[in-house]
Amino acid sequence: MAIAAVTAISAAHEATVAAALGQAPGVRLVRRCADVADLLAICTAGRADVALVSADFNGLDGSAIGPLREAGVGIVGVHQPGVEEQQRVLQQWGVRTQLPIGAAPAEFAQAVQGVAEGATSKATAPDASDDPTVSLEAELAALSDGSAPYVPVNPWLEQSAALPMPPAPASPEQTAKIVTVWGPPGAPGRTVLAVNLAAEAARLGVPTVLVDADTYAASVAQHLALLDEAPGVAAATRLADSGHLDVRSLAAVAPEVTTGLRVLTGLPRADRWPEVRDDALEAVLEQCRQLGRLIVVDVAAPLEQDEELSYDTAAPRRNAATLAALDAADTVIAIGSADPVGLQRLVRGLDELRAVISEPPKVVANRVRSSAVGSSPEQRVGEALQRFAGVASPALIPDDRDAFDGALLAGRVLAEHAPGSAARKVIAALAADLTGVAATSRRSWFTSRARS
Ligand SMILES: Nc1ncnc2c1ncn2[C@@H]1O[C@H](COP(=O)(O)OP(=O)(O)OP(=O)(O)O)[C@@H](O)[C@H]1O
Ligand SMILES: [Mg+2]
Repeated sequence: MAIAAVTAISAAHEATVAAALGQAPGVRLVRRCADVADLLAICTAGRADVALVSADFNGLDGSAIGPLREAGVGIVGVHQPGVEEQQRVLQQWGVRTQLPIGAAPAEFAQAVQGVAEGATSKATAPDASDDPTVSLEAELAALSDGSAPYVPVNPWLEQSAALPMPPAPASPEQTAKIVTVWGPPGAPGRTVLAVNLAAEAARLGVPTVLVDADTYAASVAQHLALLDEAPGVAAATRLADSGHLDVRSLAAVAPEVTTGLRVLTGLPRADRWPEVRDDALEAVLEQCRQLGRLIVVDVAAPLEQDEELSYDTAAPRRNAATLAALDAADTVIAIGSADPVGLQRLVRGLDELRAVISEPPKVVANRVRSSAVGSSPEQRVGEALQRFAGVASPALIPDDRDAFDGALLAGRVLAEHAPGSAARKVIAALAADLTGVAATSRRSWFTSRARS
């Protein structure tokens, strides 16, 4: 049996590729897709082993590549010779095997066989020679009868041609750190911690990117009094989907709000959550490593794999953004409220978290106060977390309604609004710990970078 291949290639070049595939030994061209819906339909129906795609195929973006892979279909990218932009887009979609249009039939055969070996789809196509009713002539005749519709080029490609090339990536030893701030339901203070942690790191001289990846109730923009219309995370994941995410395009949608602090604001409306797909967010977080040395991600509470809630595994998954951010994290901070309900949720949450991340998280108890747990609240909260969750030394942020309410009202961080507050000191110490920069030696990060 031959390998069943389909094409999803822009109209201008599809005929050339189809003709080469027609002569490629061991390959059978079973469909020349007219659009992305056609491509997804045939691949998810298990009728293709390999899809040959071009970056300028009408409507194709990174969001369609995931379902192809999930369907077990191998992917070969096809690009115009010498057009680096198309190769880069394919690369961003994770398409490693690429060929120029006009490659020889034997090269197509080799590439198709190469990706088919790793593919799990079990489509079987009769060899052209096995099936006299289907021949290359028939395919070529179909090409010339106008049945393949005209497909306009991807407008993103035209637009991005004007974008300057990104700077060279940072060297490996400068790899940035991703810190994801998670906490169980009940507004334990994930966002205030993420915002203030990022602000403190920036004040220590560490270029920082704050990412609001909460797909339920994004609020970083409100905490920092930023415009809701800021492009933010949805624009960044769109760039990733279109294959046009690089350090420059990311910088354009993650403005610097204060020295050293860039912000990717969250979804302005919760119902837009399908825009933040997990693989696109992963790509964005990875690219953030080129934009800052510390990336702080604020995420929503739910950890259930959405597949457990739905039989449709191809459907967008709302909790996937949280899971992706936890997976990408070098350090996870788990924050809970220091009251009986909040502590119980935190203990359960830490248990659930263990199933998702491998390294133990750094635990923070927030709003520590005697009115909620009795006298010596620090000691009681510490003992409870040790006894029920085996947490040795949680960070404890005191309850300070005046400081946090005032900061929120002013759209400022604690360092600006209540610099002397005890809550700020705990968060500043956390930032110093995470960045390895002591609060007393603000310039040391830049100094060490200059030396490296
Ligand atoms: N230590 C604290 N003392 C007083 N108020 C606090 C403290 N920490 C957080 N808050 C207040 O609690 C509220 C909720 O905080 P935040 O928005 O950070 O929670 P969250 O976990 O992000 O919740 P959400 O589920 O909305 O994402 C805010 O009004 C914040 O100012
Ligand atoms: Mg929040």
